[in-house]
Amino acid sequence: MTKIVQVAALTAAFIGLGTIGHSEDRITKLPPLPEFESAGQEPAMASLGKMLYFDARLSGDGSTSCAECHSPEFGFGDGAELSRGYPSSKHWRNSQTIVNSAFIQNGLHWDASVPSLLHQVPGAMGTPFAHNINAALAEERLRQVPEYVEMFQDIWDKPPELETIALAIAAYERTLISADSPFDRFLSGDIAALSQPAARGLQIFAGKGNCVDCHNGSLATDEEFHNTTVPRNPELFTDPERQITYRTAMRGFNVPAEMYMSFERDPGRYAVTLDEKDLGAFRTPPLRYLKYTAPYMHNGILYTLEEVVEFYDNGGTEDVFGTKSPLIKPLGLTDTEKADLVAFLESMSGTEITVEAPDLPVYGLPSTALATNTDEIAPITSTTANAVGQSGISSSSIGLAIVSGGDLQLNQTEVAGRYIVVGEGETLGQIARREYGEVLKYLEIYQANKDVIPDPNRLTPGTRLLIP
Ligand code: HEC
Ligand code: HEC
Repeated sequence: MTKIVQVAALTAAFIGLGTIGHSEDRITKLPPLPEFESAGQEPAMASLGKMLYFDARLSGDGSTSCAECHSPEFGFGDGAELSRGYPSSKHWRNSQTIVNSAFIQNGLHWDASVPSLLHQVPGAMGTPFAHNINAALAEERLRQVPEYVEMFQDIWDKPPELETIALAIAAYERTLISADSPFDRFLSGDIAALSQPAARGLQIFAGKGNCVDCHNGSLATDEEFHNTTVPRNPELFTDPERQITYRTAMRGFNVPAEMYMSFERDPGRYAVTLDEKDLGAFRTPPLRYLKYTAPYMHNGILYTLEEVVEFYDNGGTEDVFGTKSPLIKPLGLTDTEKADLVAFLESMSGTEITVEAPDLPVYGLPSTALATNTDEIAPITSTTANAVGQSGISSSSIGLAIVSGGDLQLNQTEVAGRYIVVGEGETLGQIARREYGEVLKYLEIYQANKDVIPDPNRLTPGTRLLIP
């Protein structure tokens, strides 16, 4: 058969005229984006949202922006098997791509526990495993930045609020769309857009491989839950910080302790429904943009598409929970068929979406005007805020700390402990008397802060001092 004839026959088969029974058992073009409450302001909202997406100030200790875990460099995931989490926690799942997430209707995250993009933003901000910041602090951080205040005012006629922060970020996420793959061109009628191997791979996807049973519809997902028996990721069970994070999260979901203590597997959707049939089940993920989003699966345990195909060809692995989908069974694919299936999966990825981290605005208040007592928020200086903006996704060097009741959350550049900010005209002796009731303790304070005290007789107001 010539290429054209073969592919044309395939197209006919694929659009439901031939071997494939039901109309839902196929993949269709991406639909228009779902409705969004933007009152005609969506572009302005998206450009504000892009800045917020890259701004680490929207995290408790100023270390973690959305882009840290959903970076353009890693297909809007983070390239790791398991996500890093907020400092001092380590996430128990793989950081998903957010490309095309705007189209997902029946719940976001691997377990579909989050209803929509608008719910997801406050969720990510509030959770101690991602941004670890509450609404009041997030709003306050942005209200200290005149440029942000102006942008929020222009769009909503109000200063920054959690709800509008979420709207802006969601509007930005709606711009991250991939629909220009060879397979998309094929779906639009360009039957020559698929290479020969990819065209054969499509046949396997829709036939011998049974992939289309679950990977169907416009996103190549039925948005249902299946236990495909993905192997465990040992790191989740050997790294104490991951275990702590995981157990805390499971407890938050009301999963019984005997469950998360005994099964060395993520219970997946079960955590949401507490229905045993959902043990080990995850939402079928979309398949566009895979080329840039390795490693794969909810725990990043499979590194390449070849490994994914091998996994399915073996019929999955051990059925620990006794909930394995009957659709997962050995396929008996030949080496050529496996290669063709990989070629087809690759044909579902279009060009890489490249995004430069935006320049971020700086705080408007002079640093000395802020936080002379330990119940306020210590300042980020304009230089440090700008450094976050420029580096975009690697913000480990910024000098921000939340000071609350003397209990500090710090970044790596500072030693853990209690800090104070030097007030106008304050001397080391006065600080020592105030902090310790003992003037001679000034020496200890000096020793601990030598690097930031050029002249111990004349402290610079606004300097942050560690109180040893
Ligand atoms: C510390 C890392 C981290 C940070 C920070 C983070 N995320 Fe995520 N994100 C994840 C992980 C991990 C998942 C998967 C969670 C799960 O399945 O339980 C996820 C899932 C998502 C999803 C679901 C995608 C889908 O298709 O279902 C969206 C959307 C998302 N994040 C957006 C954001 C936004 C917006 C921000 C910033 C407000 C953000 N994330 C901050 C790690 C992070
Ligand atoms: C029973 C439904 C089902 C069938 C059949 C199925 N999948 Fe999946 N697929 C899933 C689910 C669910 C996941 C996520 C599993 C997890 O993370 O634990 C997944 C994950 C994937 C991923 C990883 C995506 C990512 O972003 O990490 C790829 C690639 C994939 N499947 C391709 C295929 C191919 C190719 C076939 C056919 C050989 C196939 N699937 C058959 C349900 C299915």
